[in-house]
Amino acid sequence: MRFEDRLKAVAQEIDATLKTYLTEQSSAVEAAMRYAVIGGKKLRGFLVVESSALHDVPHGEALKAAAAIECVHAYSLVHDDLPCMDDDDLRRGKPTVHKEWDEATAVLAGDALQTLAFEILAGLDLTAERKLNAVAGLARASGKDGMVLGQAQDIAAEDVEAPLTIDEIIALQANKTGALISWAATAGAVLGGADRAPLAAYAQALGLAFQIADDILDETGDEAKTGKRVQKDADAGKATFVSHFGLMGAKEKARSLVAQAIDALELYDVRADNLRDAARFVISREF
Ligand code: IPE
Ligand code: IPE
Ligand code: MG
Ligand code: MG
Ligand code: MG
Repeated sequence: MRFEDRLKAVAQEIDATLKTYLTEQSSAVEAAMRYAVIGGKKLRGFLVVESSALHDVPHGEALKAAAAIECVHAYSLVHDDLPCMDDDDLRRGKPTVHKEWDEATAVLAGDALQTLAFEILAGLDLTAERKLNAVAGLARASGKDGMVLGQAQDIAAEDVEAPLTIDEIIALQANKTGALISWAATAGAVLGGADRAPLAAYAQALGLAFQIADDILDETGDEAKTGKRVQKDADAGKATFVSHFGLMGAKEKARSLVAQAIDALELYDVRADNLRDAARFVISREF
């Protein structure tokens, strides 16, 4: 099966799993949660499913863990788009949650997506120790030392006089995007009770390549296809690989990181081919 078809098939399974938790029958907040989390590429969920397959985690439990990380990711996007953050009107080619509903609903839908993620993980049919490791790991990756820290660093970087150094940009992006991607790519080892170190090296390179690709797309992308306003990061004075190295340099860096991610999987046999394809996909779809 082509990688894109496999990704789509897994995304559909994750969306079906999410719909069992979000029936859209009770409230505007629940409708907004569903609107925010259904759709999208589901790359993080895919990484959970594939890393879980490597460690013999039952597929149904992997899908629930994938649904959980996609809830955290969707929450981060709903809040990222708010007027007080990036102030974006479009996400995945559709109005952002605060445009479709209002700001209060967007804040609350994000809040509830975050807590739903942990409710889902707590309900996994695995040993208490494995569940606890997954819960603690996702909490850490999402919070003040992970995604939230990265978002704060991203916002702060808009106002500093001197541009960030490359090390500061790497640190910012490792938190902002890398932390959740790392949780996803190592989730299979955690849920399977194995050492997460071999997948962590893959995840680190992949996460950075992914954010660089996102930044390139934000500068050059096809707005109709992505729903994103071109040059939005430059307009906002964001510190990115593109602002530091220029487009060519950023593309080169992303390519070398993908090669590094693939090399990090050397220990695994052909069973890790889907993860190798995921690394290639991260840059192929963008440029
Ligand atoms: C976009 O993430 C935001 C970043 C963290 C760079 P994705 O490109 O994975 O978004 P969706 O979920 O597929 O829409
Ligand atoms: C979003 O990064 C990262 C998180 C929500 C954690 P961006 O602000 O670059 O993502 P887009 O470009 O809006 O998708
Ligand atoms: Mg942002
Ligand atoms: Mg944004
Ligand atoms: Mg972006």
